[in-house]
Amino acid sequence: MTPPLEIRRLTYADLPQVIAVERRAFGTPWSLAMFVLELSKPSGICLAAVRDGHIVGYLVCSRYDVVWHVMNVAVDDRLRREGVATALIERLFAIADGPGERYTLEVRTSNEAAIKLYERFGFRAAGRRRGYYHDNREDAVIMWRTSEGEAPGTASPPQNRAGTAR
Ligand SMILES: CC(C)(COP(=O)(O)OP(=O)(O)OC[C@H]1O[C@@H](n2cnc3c(N)ncnc32)[C@H](O)[C@@H]1OP(=O)(O)O)[C@@H](O)C(=O)NCCC(=O)NCCS
Repeated sequence: MTPPLEIRRLTYADLPQVIAVERRAFGTPWSLAMFVLELSKPSGICLAAVRDGHIVGYLVCSRYDVVWHVMNVAVDDRLRREGVATALIERLFAIADGPGERYTLEVRTSNEAAIKLYERFGFRAAGRRRGYYHDNREDAVIMWRTSEGEAPGTASPPQNRAGTAR
């Protein structure tokens, strides 16, 4: 039987295992310092997916102004298509989501797996950054997702019958 998957906050102690997954997942992996920087941001959400005591995936999301930026998502290359990334993103939304919350990310145009994953969660392509990736000058697709409902404080003021704001 497959051991259960636990999603919890990522910690500094997880980083050696995270780096091992990262190096297998990306041609230009993040350095340890980049993970440390993201973990140090109080407004960020960094999650670990743990199975049988081992890190099998992680997600790093930062908040800039009023927008969530999904900075990094990766799953152990031996454990893909088992719903690990799905569980991480679902937990992100469980923590961060609210009416009108906005999320954005960049993804390589060639990364069909990730684009399909994000589309399943309601992200939509909204432009490109030309030559964004330094290693091969590949373009990035910019994707956005806005949660349903209106963000607090952005609702129109109530109107009287004459249509004038009170
Ligand atoms: C992209 C990635 C995070 C997906 O992780 P995962 O745990 O395998 O994803 P899930 O099992 O939750 O997949 C959810 C859905 O995403 C889509 N998907 C995931 N991998 C896919 C693939 N290789 N091909 C097509 N669709 C894929 C499917 O719709 C899938 O649902 P299904 O399995 O029911 O068809 C993983 O492939 C990975 O780590 N890639 C390398 C790192 C990376 O590119 N990260 C994203 C950077 S922007």
